[in-house]
Amino acid sequence: MTIIVTGGAGFIGSNFIFHMLQAHPDYRIICLDKLTYAGNLSTLESVMDNPRFRFVKADICDRGAVFGLFGEEKPDIVVNFAAESHVDRSIEEPGIFLQTNIMGTATLMDACREFGVKRYHQVSTDEVYGDLPLDRPDLFFTETTPLHTSSPYSSSKASADLLVLAYYRTYGLPVSISRCSNNYGPYHFPEKLIPLMIINALDDKALPVYGEGLNVRDWLYVEDHCKAIDLIIHSGRVGEVYNVGGHNEMKNIDIVKIICRELGKPESLITYVKDRKGHDMRYAIDPTKIHSELGWLPETSFSDGIKKTIKWYLDNEDWWKPIVSGEYKNYYEKMYGNRK
Ligand code: NAD
Ligand code: DAU
Repeated sequence: MTIIVTGGAGFIGSNFIFHMLQAHPDYRIICLDKLTYAGNLSTLESVMDNPRFRFVKADICDRGAVFGLFGEEKPDIVVNFAAESHVDRSIEEPGIFLQTNIMGTATLMDACREFGVKRYHQVSTDEVYGDLPLDRPDLFFTETTPLHTSSPYSSSKASADLLVLAYYRTYGLPVSISRCSNNYGPYHFPEKLIPLMIINALDDKALPVYGEGLNVRDWLYVEDHCKAIDLIIHSGRVGEVYNVGGHNEMKNIDIVKIICRELGKPESLITYVKDRKGHDMRYAIDPTKIHSELGWLPETSFSDGIKKTIKWYLDNEDWWKPIVSGEYKNYYEKMYGNRK
C-alpha cells in the first residue's frame, strides 16, 4: 500500500506519518509538502532515512508537480492535510487560503481521478459548521448540521468539502471527509493557542487572551485524531463525512490557567487583548457516527494530554526555539505588538 500524505511537515500531518509508519509496517508513505512557514523539515528528521518514507517538496496547487508525483508513485490512498490553517492569518490575508485550500484540493482530486486512486481523504474541520451559542450546552455539531462559516479560513475549508462531495457524486471519486475539533500535542506550531501560551509562559511573557477568554473549544489529543483518520481510510464508507471529537469542551481562559499552573507561572501573566474579528463562540462535536460505525473513541484524556504536551515543549526547545526566533518574530509583533 502506498499513501501520499500532503502537508506532512505540519502539525497533524507529521503525527499522522509517525502513526502510519508504526501501525502499518508494510506501507510506504510519501509526504508532499510545500514547506510554508508552517512546514518544518526538522519535524520529519526521525523518518527521513526510513526506506518506507519519501519526502517531496511541492505545492498541491502545482498540477505538473502533483501529476508527475502521482504518475511516479501510483498511490493507493491520498490523505490531504495540506492547508493554510490559522484563522488569524486568514483574516489578515484571505487569498492564499482560497488558493491552497480550495484550488489545491481540486488539483489533488483531479490527479486522483487520472491515476485511479482508491481513496481520497480530505482532512476537514469542525469550523465548517460555524459556532454554537454558549447558553445551549445541549447543542452539538453532527454530520448533518448545515455549513455556516465565519472566517475566510473556515469558508475555504467548507468550499473544499463541497468540492470533495461534488467529485464523489459527479465523477464517482471514492472520497471521505473527517471534520475534527481542535487538536493539541507535539509539533503544534507556536502561533496556535496552546503552544503559544506554553512558550510565552516559559519566557515569562504576557499571555494574550482574546476578548474575555470565554470562547469554548473541544480539544482532542493529536494521536487520537490520527487514529480516527487511519480507521476512516480503511473502514469508513465512501462518500461519507465523519465528525471526530472527544467531548472535551473547555473555555480558553481555563486552558491558559491550567498551563500557568502546570508550569508554576503566575496568572498575572494573563493579558486580555482585543478580540478576534468574527470570533466563533463555541465548538462541540457529536462523535456518535464514528463511534457507532467504526468503534473509534479517544484514548488520551485532556489531563494526561496537556501534561504530555507541556513536557514535549520543555524537552524539545531545539524544535521551537529556531521557529520563534526567526520570521515568526515579525508575525508576532504584527499581530500582538499593538493589540489593545
Ligand atoms: P499546519 O499549518 O501545522 O500544517 C500545514 C502543512 O501544510 C504545513 O506543513 C505546510 O507547509 C503545508 N502546506 C501549506 N500549503 C501547502 C501547499 N500549497 N502545498 C503543499 N503543502 C502545503 O496545519 P495542521 O494544524 O497540521 O492542520 C492540518 C489539516 O488539518 C488542515 O487541513 C486543517 O484544516 C485540518 N485541521 C486542523 C485542526 C487543528 O486543530 N490544527 C483541527 C481540525 C482540522
Ligand atoms: O476547530 C478546529 C480548528 O482549530 C482548526 O480547523 C484550525 O486549523 C485550528 O487552527 C484551530 O482553530 P482555532 O481558531 O480554534 O485555534 P487557535 O489556536 O487559533 O485559537 C483557539 C482559541 O484561542 C480561539 O478561541 C482563539 C483563542 N486565542 C488564540 C490565540 C492564538 C487566544 O485567546 N489568544 C491567542 O493568542
